[in-house]
Amino acid sequence: MKVVIAGLGTVGRGLLKALSKKKSELWRAYEFSPKVVAAVKSDGAFLDENGLDPASVVSSLDGRGYEEHSAWVSGYTALEAIRDLDFDVLVEATPTNVESGEPGLSHILTALEREKDIVTSNKGPLVIAFEKLMEAARERGRILRYEATVGGAMPVFSLVEKCLRGNKITAIKGILNGTTNYILTRMTYERVPFDIALKEAQELGYAEANPSFDIEGIDAACKLVILANAIMGIRAKLSDVEIVGITRITPEAIELAREDGYLIKHVAQIEEGVLEVSLRLVDEKSPLAVGGTLNVVSVSTDLAGEFTVIGRGAGEETVSAVLNDLIDIWLERRRALAR
Ligand SMILES: NC(=O)c1ccc[n+]([C@@H]2O[C@H](COP(=O)([O-])OP(=O)(O)OC[C@H]3O[C@@H](n4cnc5c(N)ncnc54)[C@H](OP(=O)(O)O)[C@@H]3O)[C@@H](O)[C@H]2O)c1
Repeated sequence: MKVVIAGLGTVGRGLLKALSKKKSELWRAYEFSPKVVAAVKSDGAFLDENGLDPASVVSSLDGRGYEEHSAWVSGYTALEAIRDLDFDVLVEATPTNVESGEPGLSHILTALEREKDIVTSNKGPLVIAFEKLMEAARERGRILRYEATVGGAMPVFSLVEKCLRGNKITAIKGILNGTTNYILTRMTYERVPFDIALKEAQELGYAEANPSFDIEGIDAACKLVILANAIMGIRAKLSDVEIVGITRITPEAIELAREDGYLIKHVAQIEEGVLEVSLRLVDEKSPLAVGGTLNVVSVSTDLAGEFTVIGRGAGEETVSAVLNDLIDIWLERRRALAR
């Protein structure tokens, strides 16, 4: 299987590391030995039609001397790679843009036009054009997987798709942003004021320099839109989500809630067709009462009742979801060939 990776940040680079570290395990377990023919960042690409050595690409990126790498082509773009190269799967891991979905949206649409399968960790294209992308994939018989877009490493979509067949999903509730959960946890247990907790989150690399995407609830709302479309068949857009951020929370409110055995959490919820991200009282013993940067998703179903997944919503762990999607495509394509 030939792979193009667009974006070499935490996710793209992490994927290259995992492919290098797990090379023999992946072959033993799944006879999976992907060739990365292009690994593209914003200023150029590593190219090799016979497959790059992932470890050497990672070490050149870590060492900041990547322009000296023999496979480096300065100025070569992801769109050129997707249009021109011979490959099977695009891994789209460029930055999320929820206004236009770009550059990821064009990357995915162009790859689908060329009848390639897709794995994306980038939420932007799905938030902007979920139905259009799914339709384009269906029309061309392609697979488009996006496990990493919601809950990072947590296997929410795969669980619902593969283990809850025949169920109707009636509601979803969760904490979908690690930065806000970290801030609220620090405010709750250490009585740290909001501004200081936010500064800590930035220093620890959890929050962006411009953290409004997280603390205003936009990131969680984007994830809710993807969950609504993918799991509940609700054709929701970002503008359909009622959003309240965490900026107005006071230590007094947190303290009052605790006296009654509750935590104040930033909860994203879909119930009776309404999508909401807001501050809510959560029982200290509830499965939603996870601390730190953890994410949690509780899914209510008609047959299985409620179940909850807790895990890492961001960071290098996200690679787990991307790799699983990639292996899934490999196994599916291999099964199709054998038929
Ligand atoms: N990190 C996580 O924990 C996590 C979890 C779930 C989902 N995601 C999503 O996954 C995607 C990647 O996340 P990340 O954390 O790896 O991002 P990141 O660290 O910011 O890296 C983004 C990468 O994309 C490259 N890039 C930017 N514009 C590009 C373009 N037009 N063509 C090709 N490459 C381009 C950047 O190039 P340069 O290196 O040249 O700047 C960089 O290598 C994002 O959409 C993010 O929201 C991330």
